[in-house]
Amino acid sequence: CGIVGYVGRRQAVEVAIEGLGRLEYRGYDSSGIALIGADRALTVEKRAGKLVNLRSVLAARPAPPATAGIGHTRWATHGAPTDRNAHPHTDCEERIAVIHNGIIENFAELRAELENDGHKLASETDTEVVAHLLERFAGDGLAEAMRRVCRRLEGAFTLLAVSVDEPDVVVGARRNSPLVVGRGEGENFLGSDVAAFIAYTREAVELGQDQVVELRTSGITVTDFHGAPAETRDYHVDWDASAAEKGGHDYFMLKEIAEQPRAVADTLLGRVGADGQLMLDEMRLSDQELRDVNKIIVVACGTSYHAGLIAKYAIEHWAGVPCEVELASEFRYRDPILTRDTLIIVITQSGETMDTLMAVRHAREQRSRVLAVCNVNGSTIPRESDAVLYTHAGPEIAVASTKAFLTQLVACYLVALYLAQVRGTKFGDEISQIIDWLGRMPAKVEEVLGTVEPVRALARSLAAERCVLFLGRHVGFPVALEGALKLKELAYMHAEGFAAGELKHGPIALIDEGLPVVVIVPSPAGQRVIHDKIVSNIQEIRARGAKTIVIAEEGDDAVVPYADTLIRVPAVPTLLQPLIATVPLQVFACELAAAKGHDVDQPRNLAKSVTVE
Ligand code: G6P
Repeated sequence: CGIVGYVGRRQAVEVAIEGLGRLEYRGYDSSGIALIGADRALTVEKRAGKLVNLRSVLAARPAPPATAGIGHTRWATHGAPTDRNAHPHTDCEERIAVIHNGIIENFAELRAELENDGHKLASETDTEVVAHLLERFAGDGLAEAMRRVCRRLEGAFTLLAVSVDEPDVVVGARRNSPLVVGRGEGENFLGSDVAAFIAYTREAVELGQDQVVELRTSGITVTDFHGAPAETRDYHVDWDASAAEKGGHDYFMLKEIAEQPRAVADTLLGRVGADGQLMLDEMRLSDQELRDVNKIIVVACGTSYHAGLIAKYAIEHWAGVPCEVELASEFRYRDPILTRDTLIIVITQSGETMDTLMAVRHAREQRSRVLAVCNVNGSTIPRESDAVLYTHAGPEIAVASTKAFLTQLVACYLVALYLAQVRGTKFGDEISQIIDWLGRMPAKVEEVLGTVEPVRALARSLAAERCVLFLGRHVGFPVALEGALKLKELAYMHAEGFAAGELKHGPIALIDEGLPVVVIVPSPAGQRVIHDKIVSNIQEIRARGAKTIVIAEEGDDAVVPYADTLIRVPAVPTLLQPLIATVPLQVFACELAAAKGHDVDQPRNLAKSVTVE
């Protein structure tokens, strides 16, 4: 979500709307503002849909003068993208308004507590709970109330609040979600990133985790959640406005690649209980329904299809349910055998892909149940499905999918593990270890991101090549397909992914002197047999002149003699390897395309969401 806050001499409404305009790329399901006038009146305006809807309301009904305000563009997580669920949210008396980015994990418990106390909640959002909690502590002043509320919250959040009792104050809080301060003269700003206030100031203050900031015209006060003064870091922003939107990166794609650790963490958030059991209650399929499933068909297009190919390995291994994977555009034109006990899992970032939507309709006509794994809350496919598991990648702007793909993988792992949990499985221990490992994956993805510089240099050195092949086995095979797809999409190069075992049945004829071949090597610990086979494959292609680019886990020395370029990734369980092995391939394609001078974010002939069959 995009967040902006302001105190100062300017008209707060103008600052808020200008900031939201620059943040619209962070979410566009709905937008809203709350303003406090010098007369201590609270004005809240909010609308579902893009910012233009809010702008027209304000054009028809101009906001009163105000010197403190907060604004929000929403990317829906809890609750559909409607006017009512749009932010800001207020307390019962409408004296306090709150906006929020993130997920409050214990909101159901807090909501029940408030309702018991007689609070009437108007929306389905986790945010509204915060407004009512602030009301409870309002006597302590807004900043102290915020600290007391934050101590009760679990999850990740950025919160901003205003109150009619303190018309010259905006209070912000941050835990694991972004929030920065913009310092002005006689005015101060808050934003989910610097784009929110770059039109007014370039002097920024970075807030740390678990901090509360009180913003006044005279200055800012930052404390931890217990009121102790906190350390902050001042810095100067030298980006222009367009770079600010991209978080300082050259392209949205690079920004989205960099956001992957957070996106993976967000998709896990609230889904693993303290006892290590998975909780996917939001999915709306009963345990009995999941026990009755006797076949799963995963249906998707493009990058989402590759996530589906990986899901098959996870579902069959952990849950022991037969699983097929099919391209959505093929699915309904054959005669798939579907029954009430067939579960169709559709994977779609946008929730609007026409091929996938048609597959959903076809499956439901045959009475099969459909579970959508989707990134866009309230989009068509989740609405038409029986159940949904949202990925929390946040808006993905670049056409070539990156963070959405990683979060789709996480969601598919969760589904596979959850099926195993409800159906009982022989892999009890392995499953609890994997759930534990999933929690460590954001840090592993971060680690990979820290080592991609040589991948960039490699990509630049290959910019004049005409063709690149990708080889993998097991879950490395879909990773190879995804690596090739990225290169086709962005660099307009001929790129193919093959199952390394198939090499000898045809593709080896393509190997020519100097042909770059990327090989994704499975873990020698987890997959000794296929590991050794793929090492032989690398030798075979190298003997025929291929330039080998090998992605292998740290400590895997067997590959060293045969790798012209070696890309190391951390050791993780085999089935989770795609979460890290894909990352260098994304960077590779992005850098190679940039070196060729292509538009990385909007490649020719492609669309982010294809709504025709
Ligand atoms: C388009 C995009 C791809 C995407 C595919 C499926 O072709 O360019 O990046 O993978 O659609 O999109 P979906 O929104 O259904 O995941």
